[in-house]
Amino acid sequence: MNPTPPAAPREIRVALIGTGVIAHTHARDYARIPGVTIVAACDLNEAKLDAFCRQYDIPHQYLDYRRLLERDDIEVVDVCLHNNLHAPISVAVMAAGKHCYCEKPMAGAYTDALAMHDAARHYNRRLHIQLGMIYGGQTHAARTLIANGRLGRIYHARSYGYRRRGRPYVDGYAEKEFDSTHWAGHGALYDMGVYHISRLLYLLGRPRLESVSGAVYQELAMDPERRAESGFDVEELGVGFAKYENGLTLDILESWAVHASAFPPSVVYGSEGGIEISADGRLGYYSELDGYMTETTLDVAGKDYRDLRFDPLRRCYENSQAHFIAALRGECEAIDTAGLALDTMLVSEGIFLSSQLGREVTADEIPGLSRSLAIREQETPFGNLVYPPWPFISE
Ligand SMILES: NC(=O)c1ccc[n+]([C@@H]2O[C@H](COP(=O)([O-])OP(=O)(O)OC[C@H]3O[C@@H](n4cnc5c(N)ncnc54)[C@H](O)[C@@H]3O)[C@@H](O)[C@H]2O)c1
Repeated sequence: MNPTPPAAPREIRVALIGTGVIAHTHARDYARIPGVTIVAACDLNEAKLDAFCRQYDIPHQYLDYRRLLERDDIEVVDVCLHNNLHAPISVAVMAAGKHCYCEKPMAGAYTDALAMHDAARHYNRRLHIQLGMIYGGQTHAARTLIANGRLGRIYHARSYGYRRRGRPYVDGYAEKEFDSTHWAGHGALYDMGVYHISRLLYLLGRPRLESVSGAVYQELAMDPERRAESGFDVEELGVGFAKYENGLTLDILESWAVHASAFPPSVVYGSEGGIEISADGRLGYYSELDGYMTETTLDVAGKDYRDLRFDPLRRCYENSQAHFIAALRGECEAIDTAGLALDTMLVSEGIFLSSQLGREVTADEIPGLSRSLAIREQETPFGNLVYPPWPFISE
């Protein structure tokens, strides 16, 4: 008797808004997931949009995202736009009844991220934020050690992210919108810090923030023409110290550019053991055995290779896209990435506010101090786009 063939996965129809650098990664990731079809794409740049749609065989093109949202055959809209467009367009996506997959950081300002979070509840839609580092084998291994009690009582963590010279556009890579408060909101601390901070908050079980202090810097010289073109006015280095519930502390150092050798790894310290999460993919575990101090390097890659082949549940957490689609199909429990991204925004915004005010800020103060940077109006080839207000959110 022939075995019953596996049922075809439910088709998920996706549209992309924004067809720039990261949209290519998304299109390739969706292509690897059986049953996902990209139905439509939108960009203000017609030539870019057309080339993108031809490359990925996408049948429908839109310059105006509002026309795309009128389609009733789309379940998910993936927002691949500059940070300060995440809130207005994600809210519009959910208001149009679609689930929303949105790029990181969640928004350019905490208050805008909160609006997105509220909108998901208000419209009863899923909001997923791309937090790529929470799926990797290192994070999975670290979570396993923590869940099995190998660290004991966790009391301190460190989120470090290092680029010696990697400011977008002015140092060569990516577009100029990364560098301006107008489009991006912030620099290194939000752009790359989001990956490292969210990974640690995920490992720590999303502890409640109490207070934070810190500073942001832009000190290193850059190409003057590119500085002028981009209007570079964001931080290249962010430094912070945060206090969480139960005495837990977190120190943060995130660099796009610094005169320094590579930073030490991110860490989690506990009473029974500590872990080091190295940028090269290694995971170190430090503890004691019969009175002797031990140092173990876990074979993360080997275990992950096997798990991803043998364990269907692990595959549901392989990467951001795979997880979002699997959770949408009910194949696994969804990680609350919007909540995790919002927690990350809270501590990042706290560092920025502390830098501005020259003092520590409490978590309770941050929502009131955070100022919206969301773009409300944008020039387009078809006239001025005015984004709808968010009536259900107290600003
Ligand atoms: N570039 C990367 O390596 C990278 C990596 C991870 C995450 N991201 C995130 O992805 C987002 C986008 O970054 P990117 O590098 O792809 O930017 P990009 O500049 O390459 O692409 C953005 C696209 O959005 C289009 N656009 C702007 N306003 C629009 C509107 N109202 N309607 C439709 N299209 C519009 C632009 O024409 C452009 O093509 C950012 O939030 C960034 O943080 C980027």
